[in-house]
Amino acid sequence: MKVTVVGAGAVGATCADNIARKELCTELVLLDIKEGLAEGKAQDMMQTATLLGFDTKITGSTNDYSKTAGSDVVVITSGIPRKPGMTREELIGTNAGIVKGVCENILQHSPNAIIIVISNPMDTMTYLALQSTGLPKNRIIGMGGILDSSRFKYQLSQHLQCSPADLNAVVIGGHGDTTMIPLIRMATWNSAPVSQFLSEAEQQQIVQDTMVGGATLTKLIGTSAWYAPGAAGAALVESIVRDEKKLFTCCVSLEGEYGQKDICLGVPVIIGKNGWEKIVDFELNAAEQELFNKSAEAVRSMNDVLKTL
Ligand code: LAC
Repeated sequence: MKVTVVGAGAVGATCADNIARKELCTELVLLDIKEGLAEGKAQDMMQTATLLGFDTKITGSTNDYSKTAGSDVVVITSGIPRKPGMTREELIGTNAGIVKGVCENILQHSPNAIIIVISNPMDTMTYLALQSTGLPKNRIIGMGGILDSSRFKYQLSQHLQCSPADLNAVVIGGHGDTTMIPLIRMATWNSAPVSQFLSEAEQQQIVQDTMVGGATLTKLIGTSAWYAPGAAGAALVESIVRDEKKLFTCCVSLEGEYGQKDICLGVPVIIGKNGWEKIVDFELNAAEQELFNKSAEAVRSMNDVLKTL
């Protein structure tokens, strides 16, 4: 199994680090346009191999895509991250060109790869990857909902004073501060609805804090977060290479599911060896469906910007 991570910044490097520690592949390539960056980080990580006990062989490359040839899964993290006060959407002009170019280069050497898109604005970058490559829809997966769901569980665990591992909760919709939809009605603490333990006001607070989870970190750190985004990317790789059939919310192409089409948006999907294999219908109520439609509207107008670039 061979995996490539494009972009050796904080998110890409953390993702690669997690992939190696879990030995998700025999060969792992880290690629970046910045001279020496990927080689350096790859070497640094390789020097943890005996300490952490993994066998994955990590190599770095400065923009030489021939090194990525024959990759089964490719994670794209390239592009600029947001600065404090910026929305993910403001990155579109710069990142669209980068993501399109990366997809072309990748497919030249790995025509059968499954592509995971992390670059922001992620919903639009996923749509762009799908449109520009013409790949079968199941091979393009946007990483957003899995990260936002993890942040949702963190917020819930803080209020419930419980282990996040005992929580089941998902975020659907867009991966934007105003477009994501934490499905609190369906969230459970070991099967019991969280609404049994939390007031309406607390639930609203949790939803709000989840939605601005990334922005909160950007403000604190001074740039976009990387530990959870990197781990979320690796969790997707894991479910693909081990054919785990895990249910994650991911940004995928909708063709009428959840009432939307010609868009990539976060919904519950099964992730396995074929990429995203199936969309699961969570049967939204009217209020949730309305939020989903609004989210789609916002993402669609962002996608329209692509035509003007
Ligand atoms: C975040 C970025 C990766 O949410 O979108 O932290």
